[in-house]
Amino acid sequence: MTTPLPQLVILASGSGSTFDYLLHSSLKGLLRAKIVSLVVNKPNTGAMSIALNHNIPAFEINKKNFSNESSWDLEMCQKVTPFQPDLIILAGFNQLLGPLFLAQFKGKVMNIHPSLLPHFGGKGMYGNHIHKAVIESKVKKSGITIHWVSEHYDDGPIIAQKEVLIENNETVSSLEQKIKLQEKQFYVEIINKILIK
Ligand code: GAR
Repeated sequence: MTTPLPQLVILASGSGSTFDYLLHSSLKGLLRAKIVSLVVNKPNTGAMSIALNHNIPAFEINKKNFSNESSWDLEMCQKVTPFQPDLIILAGFNQLLGPLFLAQFKGKVMNIHPSLLPHFGGKGMYGNHIHKAVIESKVKKSGITIHWVSEHYDDGPIIAQKEVLIENNETVSSLEQKIKLQEKQFYVEIINKILIK
């Protein structure tokens, strides 16, 4: 009898390139886990189309459609719980999670951020804004951080970091590309490590 694969629920908000990479890594056996569900928080996300094309149960849970924070938090818990996730993986999910959700899945929610946290993270630090702030600050290195999720943006105990050197002629877009090229593979590597612990 084969041991069942650990189960992942992915939360995403954007283009879905991270979700797509995780899904294909899982299908190829490089990510040693099964993606059992996707939750997005807004309409028309790339991640939702990818999930539907692969018959992965996917839900849009938009906070705007709830009359208060706790009913949204409860709905997030109720949608995710039946999938019995071993880990919940944030893949460009741009919303803080509620207290109920974080308590229910304590020690199971991971995020990836394209800078060396605690630097260049927090509210408003997404996409180009991160790399623009990095270049303007004239630091010599940036990188990738994978961390456990807390009730604050881009906060919580750091699991792993990878440095990316900044060249003299580095631009916002060249830095963004360099990090994009490495971050997804790094996420797969670290998720695998966490799952075998
Ligand atoms: C990724 O670069 C990820 O590191 C970043 O969002 C992007 C999602 O891209 N995460 C954060 O900035 C977290 N604060 P995607 O929508 O194409 O997957």
